[in-house]
Parts: sequence; structure tokens; C-alpha cells
Amino acid sequence: MQIKNAAFVKSSANLSQCPEHEMWEFAFIGRSNVGKSSLINMLTGKKSLAKTSNTPGKTQLINHFIINDDWYLVDLPGYGFAKVAKNVRNKFENMIYNYLSKRESLACTFVLLDVRHEPQAKDLKFMQTLGERQIPFCMVFTKADKLSDKKLSEHVEKYKEVMLETWAYLPHIFVTSSSKKIGRAEVLSFIDQVLDNLGAPACT
Ligand code: GTP
Ligand code: MG
Repeated sequence: MQIKNAAFVKSSANLSQCPEHEMWEFAFIGRSNVGKSSLINMLTGKKSLAKTSNTPGKTQLINHFIINDDWYLVDLPGYGFAKVAKNVRNKFENMIYNYLSKRESLACTFVLLDVRHEPQAKDLKFMQTLGERQIPFCMVFTKADKLSDKKLSEHVEKYKEVMLETWAYLPHIFVTSSSKKIGRAEVLSFIDQVLDNLGAPACT
């Protein structure tokens, strides 16, 4: 898949403000600071398309980016950010779940996980909820550049083991680094395949 063009469309505070369901979309979700916005910039080859920050909690709205005038990438706020008030966190989480459960043109969700960390209860629970709600997702490990090859494969294997304690089979797994452009071809080729299989959105 070649990215011919990528442009910001709009930021929405809730599902009802999102663009019309005219194209398929792929959403990026994960804990604050995991690298969602950076991955969108890496995939599109546009350094400043999605706003990134060292400070967790940068993305606070549902951001739609149109790719090749044909499909959307969606940058979501992070979940589980400890440094915001509980009611604000609940508000974000409700918005995220509402979007993920009800967005009819959502083709697939990429759940981002920082590959440096052990499997975290918050992420496992989030994926469990996606499974229960039958929301299709892939796992995307981020920041692969921060580990040696050996540690990287140990961490990925450990995560698979933990997932297989509760899941009958594993979702697609990608290993990425936005700074080293690792995993770009794999993620884009997966999106290409999904789009090929889906045809036009049924909800148009
Ligand atoms: P929120 O919008 O706050 O939820 O964060 P986010 O998940 O969108 O993370 P963002 O892309 O803003 O990145 C957070 C920090 O991690 C930034 O300082 C990035 O430069 C850094 N970062 C993201 N991806 C990578 C990566 O692959 N490698 C390295 N080394 N740093 C990364
Ligand atoms: Mg962000």
C-alpha cells in the first residue's frame, strides 16, 4: 500500500460528531504516551500530521485523518492515564468505548502496547472487553527501538503466553518503532488486505 496523501479531517468530542460513515476506518488505541499519534505519523510519512508529546494525555478527541481519499486513520485519546481526575478519565473511557462499539464503519482497531513493559492488567482488560463486544482488533507493540533484539522477542513471547491463558487464539501481532520506521510495511499491507476483503462500507 502506497500512501499518496494524508490529511487531517476533523476532531470530534463524541461519536455523533464523527464524519459520515462513507469510508472504512482503522483506529489506534492504547494507554497514554504509548505512541499512537507517532505511529500514525510514521505510517503516513508525515511527521506532524498527528500531534505527539512527551506529556501523556496529549490527544483528547477522536481525530480523523483521510488517507488516499479512500479510508480513515483515527487517533484516539489514551486510556488509563493516572494523572487526570477520575471523572475525566471515565469520560474519555466512555467516549472511547462508545465509539468502538457503535462506529459501523470501523474496520479494525489497533491496540498499542509499549513493548518494554510486562503485560499490564489495564491493557489485558481492555482487549478482553473488545473481545466480549466482538470488536475486531490487532495488537501493535510500539517502541521496539528501545530494546535489544533478544529482549524484544522475549517480551513479545511473554505477552503471547499471557494472552493464551485467556484467549483461544492470538490476534494479528505487529512489532513497530516509529523512530526507526519498523513495521510500517506490515501494518500498511494488513490494512490493504482488510480493505480488499471488505468492499464498500455497508453503512453508506
Ligand atoms: P497520548 O495522545 O498522550 O495518549 O499519547 P500517544 O499514545 O499518542 O503517544 P505519542 O505518539 O504522543 O508519543 C509519546 C512519546 O513517545 C513521544 O515522546 C514520542 O516521541 C515517543 N515515541 C512514540 N513512538 C516511539 C517509538 O517508536 N520509539 C521511541 N523511541 N519513542 C517513541
Ligand atoms: Mg496522541
